[in-house]
Amino acid sequence: MAHYYNEPSRTFSEYLLIPNLTTKDNVPANVQLKTPIAKFKKGEKSTVELNIPFASAVMQAVSDHNMAVALAQCGGISFIFGSQSVVDQAEMVRKAKNYKAGFVVSRSNLTPEHTLQDVLDLKDQNGHSTAAITDDGTPTGKLLGIVTSRDYRISRDSLGKKVREFMTPFSSLIYGKMGMTLSEANDMIWEHKLNCLPIVDEQGNLVHLVFRKDYDRHKENPNELLDRNKSYVVGAGINSKDYAERVSALVAAGVDILCIDSSDGYSEWQRETIQFVKNNFDVPVGAGNVVDREGFLYLVESGADFVKVGIGGGSICITREQKGIGRGQASALIEVAQARDEYYERTGIYVPICSDGGIVHDYHMTLALAMGANFVMMGRYFARFDESPTKKLKVGNNYVKEFWGEGSNRARNWERYDMGGKQSLVFEEGVDSYVPYAGGLRENMEKTLSKIKSTMCNCGSNTIAELQSKARITLVSATSLVEGGAHDVILKESSLSAE
Ligand code: IMP
Repeated sequence: MAHYYNEPSRTFSEYLLIPNLTTKDNVPANVQLKTPIAKFKKGEKSTVELNIPFASAVMQAVSDHNMAVALAQCGGISFIFGSQSVVDQAEMVRKAKNYKAGFVVSRSNLTPEHTLQDVLDLKDQNGHSTAAITDDGTPTGKLLGIVTSRDYRISRDSLGKKVREFMTPFSSLIYGKMGMTLSEANDMIWEHKLNCLPIVDEQGNLVHLVFRKDYDRHKENPNELLDRNKSYVVGAGINSKDYAERVSALVAAGVDILCIDSSDGYSEWQRETIQFVKNNFDVPVGAGNVVDREGFLYLVESGADFVKVGIGGGSICITREQKGIGRGQASALIEVAQARDEYYERTGIYVPICSDGGIVHDYHMTLALAMGANFVMMGRYFARFDESPTKKLKVGNNYVKEFWGEGSNRARNWERYDMGGKQSLVFEEGVDSYVPYAGGLRENMEKTLSKIKSTMCNCGSNTIAELQSKARITLVSATSLVEGGAHDVILKESSLSAE
């Protein structure tokens, strides 16, 4: 006979935290968000720790090398998406590992044959006022000039003007040579009163741009997540099919931690994949996703270094509707966290868990941590920012960014959603969508983190571990949900857009 769970499975929105005594040292400035993400023995330390408990999802629309760098600069980690060729994914890992703070790959590029209208469109699209002009319009083509807003005047007649007629040509540019240090580049920027210094290789191909504002920014990254060689810490997603080839390329590229990416991780394929990694490489590997004790223990006993929790809760996910599998994210997390704690008691081995998917409000992150997650993985949250790899578009009066699931046809992720090796999905488990554009990652995350820290202070906790041991969590009734938001007042326009 089937096994029945007597309790309904629940989501984060059904819970609230009850404050504990806030002592005088419970102030946001004292809150530490450091968290382990790879298993460790009692008395030892995790080999990989995050400075903030955030990971960006293993998704094409979320985690490329740019996101990896931006998030590591703030103390979190990206798992670069695996639904691309081994070569391309390893190259992204390499780019993030080799990233030198302050040296950026040019994101606005045109050829001399483009027009002023193209320059303005590009500026509107990605907000950069500097465009590199290369022979082929790529960020690594031969550098022929630079266009900034000081190079043109906008009039009706000038919109069709070719870039070559008004760009600052290479012959008049101050540029740096590949291999120079950031402080040398910065000296040139100051000496020549520049806003942007292009860096070229020996053949005159563009390699990087150094911006005056980025140098200042770099000095403002006290929380950045660095490895022993002072490179950013970077993760990558793998699948349980081509791991033999993929893992060795990723390890050669310098990846710090792997994550098997699957909608249902309670499988013999995951066990084989974990064991292959453990037998051949010295790199931690997480596995998942699971939603109960059995799934957790199976992966841990197979050797997983962390376990990811969540099926069907993702914003773009339609797995529950399509297949009828899954579990409310809060219930899944609570059960797996209990299993993790019991396993630690029994064996002295602590296996971090990650709550993946279904985070809608910032307070859901605090709840997830309080319920036992060591870190949270998010797709939608990060997809909204400038640093995500997708296009920013104007739909109606609003700016949006594209965001699609790994189980949508668009992702062509045959390994995650295997339907017998056919090059199409028999049915989709994810949708193709837009998310409201929210601006830069750093500014948004600072706000989110201050909310988390503030709530932790309400709960009398200065660390995540303390929050987990002290948290008092209550279910809320459907009726009382209404009283949680603004109610019985007429909102002014300015309050309608508040998160
Ligand atoms: P979000 O933070 O709610 O957007 O959820 C992101 C998570 O959804 C990812 O980390 C994946 O675990 C999951 N996911 C990504 N793509 C799909 C899909 O197409 N179908 C189902 N789940 C997905």
